[in-house]
Amino acid sequence: MDTKPFLQALAGEAVWPPPVWLMRQAGRYLPEYRRTRAIAGDFIALCTTPELAAEVTLQPIRRYGFDAAILFSDILMVPWAMGQGLRFAEGEGPLLEPVRDRAALEALDLPGVVDRAAPILETVRRVRAGLAMHPGTALIGFAGSPWTVACYMVEGRGGGEFAEARRAAFRDPVFFAEVMEKLEAATLAYLLAQAEAGAEALMLFDSWAGLLSPSGFRRWVIEPTARLAAALRDLRPDVPLIGFPRLAGPLLAEYAARVPVQAVAMDTGMDPAWAAAHVPPRMALQGNLDPQALVAGGPAMEQEVRAILAAMKGRPFVFNLGHGIVPPTPPEHVARLMEVLRAG
Ligand code: CP3
Repeated sequence: MDTKPFLQALAGEAVWPPPVWLMRQAGRYLPEYRRTRAIAGDFIALCTTPELAAEVTLQPIRRYGFDAAILFSDILMVPWAMGQGLRFAEGEGPLLEPVRDRAALEALDLPGVVDRAAPILETVRRVRAGLAMHPGTALIGFAGSPWTVACYMVEGRGGGEFAEARRAAFRDPVFFAEVMEKLEAATLAYLLAQAEAGAEALMLFDSWAGLLSPSGFRRWVIEPTARLAAALRDLRPDVPLIGFPRLAGPLLAEYAARVPVQAVAMDTGMDPAWAAAHVPPRMALQGNLDPQALVAGGPAMEQEVRAILAAMKGRPFVFNLGHGIVPPTPPEHVARLMEVLRAG
């Protein structure tokens, strides 16, 4: 039996008050993160230096006692581990060498992924060891879903609506499917290696799922994610999986019916009551406070929190935000959020 509340909720128990963690809980809103980030120099160096990456993963656990720690890394470390050029330009976000032709696709190194990811896997081991001092806190490993990562790989950058990548999926679906297949295989190997290294749950971030038409959503989100989730279920039935098809809207019901995940994360715009009615009752829900309500704080934030709790009471649930914490978030608002949640 699981004794960690977060894992109990993912196993289908209506734990109350609900367990809580926050997307991007390690990040620039914390002064201690900014200090460690400055020591590392750049963001990729931070992700690939186990001592520093483990330190920033644990910082928000020490400060707030969250029920889960999430490995400090990035969804773009899978293309990086396949050898695709990646850098994070200050103020510009991620920049990649775009994969738009067969030569670029063939240059991606699939068999080398787990070896190149060695420092990230070492971070997982160190965080698990560090969590011995926080026995109620579980460790989440993660990856991006193939669709979202393919968007960055084909577009070569973030920041927009991935027009090039979305056109490529229509114009040359055979090529696009080959990019997706390679990515799916790399993602499976990478997630299995994280579980092997000590991740107790896994999450798949599909941040750009909502950019697709319904037919595209079925083909590029549901199908590959269902295959990935089934393979993980088969090989690691002990490690629960959270899916996050962001901005899926009512297609969330079809996703939850067809993708064998143990939990689905709700984005900010999802109505928790609607989700509770359309997702199987034993499948956990996670979410979905507006990150801007956490910046604002005060009674408006508390009212939003109570509305989410009221809709989720009696079913398996993990409190979180609807998207990542933003840098202007005052750390004391997170402390207040924890007081409100722990009071139930
Ligand atoms: O949640 C956590 O605390 C764990 C770490 C984590 C990061 N990125 C750290 C990060 C996780 C789980 C991610 C996932 C991620 N990365 C997603 C999916 C979730 C989402 O936000 O939709 C996406 C789309 C990315 C890609 C990415 N990484 C972008 C677009 C950017 C630049 C934008 C920005 O916020 O600066 C990043 C960089 C990044 N990843 C930062 C952090 C803490 C900021 C880098 C810094 O410190 O300079």
